[in-house]
Amino acid sequence: MAQSKPVTAVIVGGGHRAIIYGDYSLKHPDELQIVGIADPMEERREMARKRYGFPAENCFATAQELAQHPKFADAVINGTMDHQHYETSVPLLERGYDMLLEKPFAVSEEEMRGLIRTVKANRSKVMVCHVLRYTPFYREIKRRILSGELGDIINLQMAEQVSYHHLSTSYVRGKWANSDHCKTSMLLAKSCHDIDIMTWLMGGVKPRTVSSFGSIYQFKPENAPKEAGTRCLVDCPLVDTCRYSAKKLYFEHPNRWECYVWSELEHLENATDEDRWNSLLHSPYGRCMYKSDNNVVDHQSVLVNFENGATGTFNLVGGSARSARTIHIIGTKGELEGVFEDETITVRKIDADADSGYSSETVDLSAVGEEGHGGGDDELTADFVRFIATGEQSISCTAIENSVAGHLTVFNADKSMAEGGAPVACDFSAY
Ligand SMILES: NC(=O)c1ccc[n+]([C@@H]2O[C@H](COP(=O)([O-])OP(=O)(O)OC[C@H]3O[C@@H](n4cnc5c(N)ncnc54)[C@H](O)[C@@H]3O)[C@@H](O)[C@H]2O)c1
Repeated sequence: MAQSKPVTAVIVGGGHRAIIYGDYSLKHPDELQIVGIADPMEERREMARKRYGFPAENCFATAQELAQHPKFADAVINGTMDHQHYETSVPLLERGYDMLLEKPFAVSEEEMRGLIRTVKANRSKVMVCHVLRYTPFYREIKRRILSGELGDIINLQMAEQVSYHHLSTSYVRGKWANSDHCKTSMLLAKSCHDIDIMTWLMGGVKPRTVSSFGSIYQFKPENAPKEAGTRCLVDCPLVDTCRYSAKKLYFEHPNRWECYVWSELEHLENATDEDRWNSLLHSPYGRCMYKSDNNVVDHQSVLVNFENGATGTFNLVGGSARSARTIHIIGTKGELEGVFEDETITVRKIDADADSGYSSETVDLSAVGEEGHGGGDDELTADFVRFIATGEQSISCTAIENSVAGHLTVFNADKSMAEGGAPVACDFSAY
């Protein structure tokens, strides 16, 4: 169905993520228009107002304040932090807005149930930002499964390796390092995407039981070199030799994870080396990697038993040299494997006539991908606009009700890990 006028949206939480989705409107003004913002930070409100050209009266300090005003747009792009998704979404859904909502859409099962109840009561269209579903790599895998060429899935083996500098930035020194503050586990914050992919690829087959093990293996005080200080640039004699030194990771690579590491400098037009050095003297990113306040695991293994007897495994491992996502699916007629970062998949089909016993095809997807999660960010925004304008759901569409199985699997994996790996049953009766 063609779109007769642009979908209008208000940004709620004008940080790093929401602006990425909002910028779709600059490339496709006939499809999406950003008409307002709610964010407590004045500089972010002002930046958005200038960027998208809406009037000052459409700026609000919080989601809650926006919800008290009459509805003036079709939808909201909610890019607040994980633990704020529930409290910011509910009043806006009740006000009648549809929503593009960042993942994880809830940080507990209780919040997930409450949000789904609100969505149903208000007949809201809510899409969750599971951007990986929109990448050429995972979309091609989904197409292959839907085509039937692999037969029925017997087993999925998935893994995510999180590089040492990503682990440092997000899960040891950064915003998702301590679950008492951020309210998320590493599995929920990082790999709800991967578990979502697993449940999505299984189609309507639900997870039945989940078990999981994990721990902090590497970055804890007892593993620190004995000379180590507490802050790399302040009191550590290993500042030039430690491979995790903030000087090496960030000061000498200022573009690495810049939106997180230098976020306190974003009000400066052009930050200098001196500004960056001074920031690392006191910011969380200048702490010793072994002596931070991190309490989330750095590795976790998840085993999923599906209701039809198929199984899936997922290994999350932080601290690797390179970031990579791998997948190997074995079906009754064939198998498929690939590495997301390599942008190729190999499909092998059972062929009893061939000497090798199978046929093999390698597909190069590199020409299809673009910037931002392998092209996923823009594709997701385009699909959200279509979903709001026409109600149509694509094969990737992450309507919130299609994201419950993945989130529930994550919550149960964390529950199992806390209980030493005991199997936890998935109860869908509340959804
Ligand atoms: N889909 C993905 O691949 C992906 C990648 C990274 C992060 N994320 C998720 O995106 C979300 C946002 O992350 P980010 O790094 O952009 O965060 P951010 O901190 O840059 O932005 C959050 C914004 O919310 C604002 N805010 C706080 N309270 C508010 C309120 N009551 N009402 C309105 N605004 C409020 C803050 O001032 C801030 O500007 C997180 O949930 C994160 O897990 C998703």
